[in-house]
Amino acid sequence: MDKRLNEEKVFKDPVHKYIYVQDQVIWDLINSREFQRLRRIRQLGTSFLTFHGAEHSRFSHSLGVYEITRKIISQFERNRYEDWPSGERLLCLCAALLHDVGHGPFSHSIERAFDMDHEQWSCRIVLGDTRINEVLRGVAPDFPDKVAQVIDKTYANEIVVSLISSQLDADRMDYLLRDAYFTGVNYGMFDLERILRVLRPSKGHIVVKESGMHAVEDYLMSRYQMYWQVYFHPVTRSAEILLFNIFRRARELYENGYAFGFLIEPMRQLFKRELSVSDYLKLDEAFMQMLFMQWSDEPDPILSDLCSRFLNRRLFKYSPSEEADVLRLQALRKRLDELGLDPNYYLERNDPQGLPYDVYSPGQAEVKLPILLLDAKNQLSEISVKSEIIRSINGIHKGDRLVFFPEEALQ
Ligand code: NI
Repeated sequence: MDKRLNEEKVFKDPVHKYIYVQDQVIWDLINSREFQRLRRIRQLGTSFLTFHGAEHSRFSHSLGVYEITRKIISQFERNRYEDWPSGERLLCLCAALLHDVGHGPFSHSIERAFDMDHEQWSCRIVLGDTRINEVLRGVAPDFPDKVAQVIDKTYANEIVVSLISSQLDADRMDYLLRDAYFTGVNYGMFDLERILRVLRPSKGHIVVKESGMHAVEDYLMSRYQMYWQVYFHPVTRSAEILLFNIFRRARELYENGYAFGFLIEPMRQLFKRELSVSDYLKLDEAFMQMLFMQWSDEPDPILSDLCSRFLNRRLFKYSPSEEADVLRLQALRKRLDELGLDPNYYLERNDPQGLPYDVYSPGQAEVKLPILLLDAKNQLSEISVKSEIIRSINGIHKGDRLVFFPEEALQ
C-alpha cells in the first residue's frame, strides 16, 4: 500500500529549506505520538550548555535524514540506475524517518548509567503496541519487521542499510549540517548537493563516482572538525559527567533502599530495569528537568548538589591530565576530602574515546560500511587508498585526556 498524498506537504527547514512529504504513510508516522515526542528531546544532549544555539530537537534531525534519503532515492530514480531496488523506496524512507525514534532524554548519559541502547528501543517502538506499528502494518503485515531490520542493520539488502547507516549515510550528513547550523560553527559545512549527485547504487553497494572524491574529502574534514570543536568540547564533556553522576547516584541510592523525597513513574521502573515501551515513551527532557529540579531539594547532599549544579550550570572545571599525573590527582583528592566532597562523584579523568563518534575507519570491523569509489573502468576501491587527505586524518586520536573537578578544589 504505497499511497501518495493528494497534495504534497512541506516543512520549512533551516538546513534543507523545505522537507517534502508525498506519502500518506510518512505523513501518518510524523503525526504519531511516538514521533512527536522527539520534539521534546534535544539532538545534542548537553551541548546547549556550551553552544547556546544547540537547542534543536531529534524531531528536526529525523525529518532531515528522511529528506536526504528522499533526495538520494529520487536522484537514483531519475537516472534509472539498474542496481537500485525500486521496490524498497518506502522501506528506506520509513527507516530513515524512524532511525532515532528510540532516543531517550540525554541519551548518552542515561544509556551509560542504565545499560540501555537507543537502537533497541527504536526497534521495540517499531514492533510494539504503538501508533507507529499500526501505521507500518497498514503497508504490509511484515513491514514493521523490515523497518526494524534496517534500523538494527540486519536487513539483507546492503544498499538499503547503507543509505541509513554507513560512513557516508543520510544520518551523518544531516547531523553534521544541522549541528553546525545550530551551534553556529562553520566547520561542519560541506557540499551536500554535490555528494548527492555522485552517489549511485552499484554491485550491491552505494558507491561514490570517483570524480566526487573531493566532495567526500570535504565532508570527512568537516566531520573531523566537528568532533574536536563541538562533540568533544570539554565543557560538554563536563556537563555529561555531571549528568552521568546524577543518574549513577540516584541509581545507587535506590538500590540501597534510600527513601526518595520525590520519585514518580516511570523513574521507578527505570531503576528496576522494568521499563515497558509505554513507560519509556513518557521519558523526555522536560520530565528529566522536572526531576532534577525536585531532586535539588533531596536530603541526600550529593544528589541535591549535583542536580543544582546541572540546573544552574555550575559545571566542573577541567585541565589537561597526563598519564604521570599521580601526584596532582592525589592532591585534588585530598582537597576534595577536606571540602567534604566525595571524589567518587566529584573527580573524573577521561578522554573522549568512549563517545560514539569516529572520523573515518576504512575497515568493516565496526558495523559502519566503508566509502567506496567507482572509477571509469567500473572498478571499486576503498576511498583512503586513493585519497591522501583521508589517509592523513584516518584514525587520528589527538590526546585529549582531561581531569574534571569542582571549582572549589582550586581555592
Ligand atoms: Ni540520527
